Formats: sequence, C-alpha cells, structure tokens
Amino acid sequence: MNKAFYLETFGCQMNVVDSEQIMALLQGIGYSQVDSAEQADLVLLNTCSVRDKAERKVYGHLGRFKPIKDQRPGLIIGVGGCVAQQEGEKMLEKVPYLDLVFGTHNIHRLPQLVQQVEQNRQRASITNFQDRETRLNLFPERTFQETVTRFVTVMQGCDNFCSYCIVPHVRGREISRSSHEIITEVRGLVAQGVREVTLLGQNVNSYNLKDDKDISFAQLLQQVNAIDGLQRLRFATSHPKDLTEELIDCFGPLEKLCKHIHLPIQSGSDRILKLMNRGYTVNDYLKKVADLKKVCPEIRLTTDIIVGFPGETEEDFQATLDLVEQVGYVDAFTFLYSPRVETAAAKMLDDQSSVQKQQRFDRLLKLQQETSAAIWQTDAGQELSVLVEGESRQGDGQLFGRSTWNRIVNFRGSADLVGHTVTVKIAKVLRNSHIGELVEPR
Ligand code: 5AD
Ligand code: SF4
Repeated sequence: MNKAFYLETFGCQMNVVDSEQIMALLQGIGYSQVDSAEQADLVLLNTCSVRDKAERKVYGHLGRFKPIKDQRPGLIIGVGGCVAQQEGEKMLEKVPYLDLVFGTHNIHRLPQLVQQVEQNRQRASITNFQDRETRLNLFPERTFQETVTRFVTVMQGCDNFCSYCIVPHVRGREISRSSHEIITEVRGLVAQGVREVTLLGQNVNSYNLKDDKDISFAQLLQQVNAIDGLQRLRFATSHPKDLTEELIDCFGPLEKLCKHIHLPIQSGSDRILKLMNRGYTVNDYLKKVADLKKVCPEIRLTTDIIVGFPGETEEDFQATLDLVEQVGYVDAFTFLYSPRVETAAAKMLDDQSSVQKQQRFDRLLKLQQETSAAIWQTDAGQELSVLVEGESRQGDGQLFGRSTWNRIVNFRGSADLVGHTVTVKIAKVLRNSHIGELVEPR
C-alpha cells in the first residue's frame, strides 16, 4: 500500500539538511511525499527553537492538524528538531493528539519509530544524545530533485555557549565529520549535476579545531575547491573568534570560493559582547574584517545582530550602529532578543521596555536597509558572473541564478544554461534581487 507523508521545516539550514535525510528515510519505508496534511498518513514538523517566535509557531501549527486527526484517527503526527529536543516527552503531555517526538540526534531512528507507531499505536518520544556519530554520518541515498546548489554538513553542534543561545542545549557538543566522508559526498553530488556546495555547520569554522587527527577547515576548503566539475563553494556560519589566518587566506587563491562571508557580530559593544560570552572584542573583529578585505578586496559581509540584550544601554546600542556603518554589511539579519530557557542570559536582569527595544530595532533596520541599498546599487551597469540555478517560476523565459555575493539575478535566457556560469550585465537593482541581461552564453 502506498503511504504518504507531509513534512514542514522551520528554522535554519541545518534543519533543511535534516529534513532531506528525513525524506530519504521515509521513502525507504514506502512513504512518498505530498504537499498537504489532508492527503497524508504521516505529518511531521521539523522545528526550530532559536527564538520565541519560531517556537510558538510550532504549537500553532500543530493545532491545525487536530481537526484532520479527529476525522482520521489513523493519522500519525510527529515533531522533530530543536523544539522536540528541548521539550521531549512533555510535548506528548501538552499535545494529546501527538504520536511521536524525536530529537536532533535521533533522525536515523525515524523509520523504526514510525513503524512502531503504525503497528501498535503507542506514542513514543526519543531525544537522547547517544547516537551522535551514527547520526552525523547518516547520508542515505537522496532522492531529491536535481538542483544546482546543495548544502553539505561538515560539523554539528556547538561548544560556545553564547549566553543567549539555545543551540548548544538542543544540538549538543561539537562534532566534525571526517574529511574523507565530506569529499566523497561532494564528489557524488557533483556527479549528479550539483555545481555549488555550501559547507554547513552551526560553527563551521571550528571544524576539527580541537582535533588534529584530521585536516583543518582551510585545508578542507582547498580539497573541495580542487574537485573537478564543482564551480562554486560557500560556507556558513562562521564564528569570528575561530576565523583563523589560514582561513582568511583562502579568500585569495581559492578561485571557487565565493567572495562573501557571513560573520555574525551580534553587538558592537564590548561590554555586551562580554555578557554574551562571544569571546572577541569589536577590535578583534574589525582586524579580521580588515584582513579579509586585504586578501580579497571585493569581499562582502553579512551578519547577525541581536537588539535589546539584557542591560543594553543607549550607548551600547549606538556602538552597534557605529559598527554597522563602519563595516558596511551588504545585509544583516537583525533580531529582537528573546530569552531562552536554560541559557545564562535568561537569568540576567532585562529592564528595557519592549517599546524601547522595538525603537532601537527599527533604527538599526533603517540604517541597514540604507546601507544594503547603497551597496547593491553599485552593481548597476556591472557585468557579473552568475551561476544559473533554474528557470523562473513565472515561466516567462526568465532564468535565475546568483552572483558571487549570493544575490539573486533574474535574466532572459535558454533553459540549457542551467548549471552554467554566465556573465550578466545588471540593468536594474530591486530591493531583493537584480534584473540583468545575458552578455555571453557560456
Ligand atoms: N534571541 C534573539 N536572537 C537570537 N539568536 C540566537 N539566539 C537568540 C535569542 N535568544 C540569533 C543570533 C544568531 C542567529 C542565528 O539567531 O543572532 O546568530
Ligand atoms: Fe549559538 Fe553562539 Fe553556538 Fe552560534 S556560536 S550556535 S550563537 S552558542
């Protein structure tokens, strides 16, 4: 009998990769994917708990499935990811129509768990951290649609314990994959038509940093760069304190490495950075930015910033604005601080009003939007290299791809250019993308 699953993914790219593995595993036990819960025998949410909003969304979403389950009691509903890891069995108590809770390190057990629920209708929760290695090296045959760009996990977890962050609590301690496994996976992807990979980890540049049994992250980049047929290479997310000289130097000679780095600063105030337990000062950070620009003058940076951390004063916030101006980020992901259980910051005195936090957030957003617009505008009239990723959804003969700076570029061209790097002259700069004209087909 053909069974169907419906999967929704929240949160970061790690969850996107985990969801690919979930899909492959479920296909392995006879499930095929459908795009609505109404058609499914199994509904799964892969969840995120990094901020309060993401977490609340999960409970809201689960509520949507209750009427379906009332009508069809045989429907299996499961939750995985960071909220599942954090809440564990409690979720089964809170949500009586939920069947299955599985943690971030138990994905490989999913087929067995689902079959158990199918057979004896017994609810199950598993969230232990015992299978770290098995889980990390779980790369079942993927049956994904052919795509030009893919994510490849190189490490997982985090040992940093930034005081606001739940990740170390729900993703566990850092563990790096063997470079041999990674290279084999990238080679396999390239053989299937992938042209760009993004090496992924919560703290990607601490890859093997505490373990010299295997190669360094910079050496890994060199090896991936040398793979024939691969055109582009990216990595995310980097921690400023682990940005080594050896890694900075990669932005010069490695021709496939894109000229973009996501380097979260979080705050421009040394006092707040200390309270955040970030392990660097503003000066340390600026020195690394200067070194990056020396090695690769065209490099563009993006960042993450938290506004309204406990005790943030106007002076601290002004320092963040100053830093944003000084670095000139091409984009910034800005977040309102949200207290997370078990974290050190959740115990700190947080006496700012939400109105004040929101005002600061709006000021930062305005500055960043102006900065971003000004930088993207400099692309107008330029001829840029674009890796073509696909045909536009509008189906009007438009293709889309990305520049080295990860900016979406739309232009007219024939579908056989997908997977190739072409030159596009930028005609118009929109808020979130560029429109251009093809200069040379290949
Ligand atoms: N509140 C607000 N933002 C947070 N982030 C992580 N934890 C929190 C929190 N408790 C942000 C950080 C991080 C990004 C992924 O999410 O900026 O870099
Ligand atoms: Fe969270 Fe800090 Fe680890 Fe990033 S480095 S995942 S912000 S604890």
